[in-house]
Amino acid sequence: MSVHSEIKKITTETLRKMKFDKEKITMLTAYDFTTAKMVDAGGVDSILIGDSAANVMAGFETTLPITLDQMIYHTQCVVRGVERALIVADLPFGTYQSNSEKALESAVRMMKEGGAHAVKIEGGIEIEDSIRKIVNAGIPVMGHLGLTPQSIYKFGTYKVRAKEDAEAEKLLSDAKLLEELGCFALVLEKIPANLAKKVSESISIPTIGIGAGLDCDGQVLVYHDMVGMNQGFSPKFLRRYLDLYTEITGAVSQYVKDVKTADFPNKTESY
Ligand code: KIV
Repeated sequence: MSVHSEIKKITTETLRKMKFDKEKITMLTAYDFTTAKMVDAGGVDSILIGDSAANVMAGFETTLPITLDQMIYHTQCVVRGVERALIVADLPFGTYQSNSEKALESAVRMMKEGGAHAVKIEGGIEIEDSIRKIVNAGIPVMGHLGLTPQSIYKFGTYKVRAKEDAEAEKLLSDAKLLEELGCFALVLEKIPANLAKKVSESISIPTIGIGAGLDCDGQVLVYHDMVGMNQGFSPKFLRRYLDLYTEITGAVSQYVKDVKTADFPNKTESY
């Protein structure tokens, strides 16, 4: 008999039940094995391999350039580090918008080769066919409304979305459609808190907010932002839990000094 206690894995059904029980859902991004291991050990319910990897890992200005092969690679790395959390991977720009066959192919690759438990895609009624096709194939889909960074060149700005009535109404009707199509959850990014509350109360699937206030059913942040590795990004919604940029550059400069002054390695650090 195994001495190890069984880890209870989080599933889409767990998240559904958490909303029902009014227990908040936690989600963070990860793009690599080591980070995923720490984030999972910290107890988050879900890990997102976001296409923000394009910004954070690769240094691109937008999320558009990252490819499906690159997202699959990041997902494979994360999967090897996770024991408990539900693993959701973004389908990148251009891999699901053109037609539903292509969308399904992309989602299948992400599940088969990447090892994700679910995929996330951005948009509402415009991608209805793609969502239907992926869900019908048995692949869990997380929606994403509000500020959808893959449409940055359409928006022209990363400012708060859906402040005007028309956009807010479309967002609410898209959220209802995503629920109807069978999405298991939905990210609400950078929208007014009162609209996120209204959406969260109007649908039975969980809403995961980023810059969308307290009344979402859960919260998601980009890991590198919340541990303070990324000094150049300070939106109002971001809470920094560490200042790792300062810690790490400080440690590196101490190491440089120690080597230059022949302080490192000392006798106990040598064979
Ligand atoms: O790519 C990403 O990290 C995301 C989150 C900001 C929700 O989509």
